Amino acid sequence: MAIGGVGAGGGAGSVEGQQGRSVLVTGGAGFIGTHTVLRLLEKGYAVTAVDNFHNSVPEALDRVRHIVGPALSARLQFIFGDLTIKDDLEKVFAAKRYDAVIHFAGLKAVAESVAHPEMYNRNNIVGTVNLYDVMKKHGCNKLVFSSSATVYGQPEKVPCVEDSPLKALNPYGRTKLYLEEMLRDYQHANPEWRTILLRYFNPIGAHQSGDIGEDPKGVPNNLLPYIQQVAVGRRPELNVYGHDYRTRDGTAVRDYIHVVDLADGHIAALEKLFATPDIGCVAYNLGTGRGTTVLEMVSAFEKAYGKKIPVKMCPRRPGDSEQVYASTAKAEQELGWRAKYGIEEMCRDQWNWARKNPYGYCGDAAENKD
Ligand code: NAD
Ligand code: UFG
Repeated sequence: MAIGGVGAGGGAGSVEGQQGRSVLVTGGAGFIGTHTVLRLLEKGYAVTAVDNFHNSVPEALDRVRHIVGPALSARLQFIFGDLTIKDDLEKVFAAKRYDAVIHFAGLKAVAESVAHPEMYNRNNIVGTVNLYDVMKKHGCNKLVFSSSATVYGQPEKVPCVEDSPLKALNPYGRTKLYLEEMLRDYQHANPEWRTILLRYFNPIGAHQSGDIGEDPKGVPNNLLPYIQQVAVGRRPELNVYGHDYRTRDGTAVRDYIHVVDLADGHIAALEKLFATPDIGCVAYNLGTGRGTTVLEMVSAFEKAYGKKIPVKMCPRRPGDSEQVYASTAKAEQELGWRAKYGIEEMCRDQWNWARKNPYGYCGDAAENKD
């Protein structure tokens, strides 16, 4: 384990408050983690990010430092560590006192979880159990957990409301569902804990600078990373999985949310935790409440890109739902948060990131062979 960057100090420039509050972000070098670290710094928090770079690279946090500038990056500390190794977490907590933890670190590829369920249980479940134990030992009891719309399974009714029936359809989903239950049990046994479970719908887009974004390893599973790789010439065409759904154009509907809006949802959740001693353990959807079909998304991306994306109509992907979108009422009412950006801005920022970084952070076709 190594500690890099500069410890949290004062001296930040024009920030919006929260000086003195310190947040640990697990998985801070990942897609959602980097965007959240950036917004936390801009809001005046001192941030420690921990990551083992299983699905990310150090360059991602260097870019965050570059975007926020030297004054704010003085408040960012990075610690290399693996949550499945308890000693690593002990060192993270020995380094500093944290007012709260945002827990992103986890594996998230559905197909990989079907092939290697043990890897998902070890990483996602053991990592979270370790985190909880070490937080408890060090008296840190405020936690924001990355859950997923995957816990709604194939919803019978949309929009998905937080008290809809929950069901997991694959090993990845089961880790999220189990961890939600586990954190509810832990909170029940320790009523002083404050826990927010955030169920993300489909995060896409990138920071407006185009300097940070999603950089999947291998063939992308998700729609926008795949479209982006077609646009930059890394793949010949997009396979559209399913065109016989009972939707406007026959393709599946999802609730895409700009990753910067999602990051702001975490700030709102943190503020809620700090302000609400008796919050207990509560789940919130983070989505826009609007459904978009695959073909509508392709058109929106083409508008930003200025050219056509070749598509091939294919059979449905096993396990896919027809329509998934969020009810956003609870997050709006209780967190005072709602998404600001629409799919046009999401596609604009996704394309800007792709255009500036066609091969992701490594910038090299040879290093991105798959
Ligand atoms: P990501 O893979 O880009 O980021 C996860 C980060 O965690 C990576 O940097 C990875 O290296 C790190 N990590 C994984 N296991 C670790 C461990 N044991 N110790 C230390 N670091 C570890 O993924 P993301 O898209 O940023 O997702 C973040 C979280 O949000 C995940 O828990 C994911 O399941 C959840 N989520 C993501 C989506 C999505 O579509 N992106 C949707 C719903 C939920
Ligand atoms: N799709 C294609 N072609 C592709 C990729 C996707 O047509 O190359 C389609 C899918 O079939 C689906 C839609 O685009 O109809 C969205 O697919 P994604 O894989 O981007 O997103 P999903 O909603 O299927 O799943 C994602 C994550 C899950 C998570 C869920 C909710 O992969 O882990 O969002 O957060 F649970």
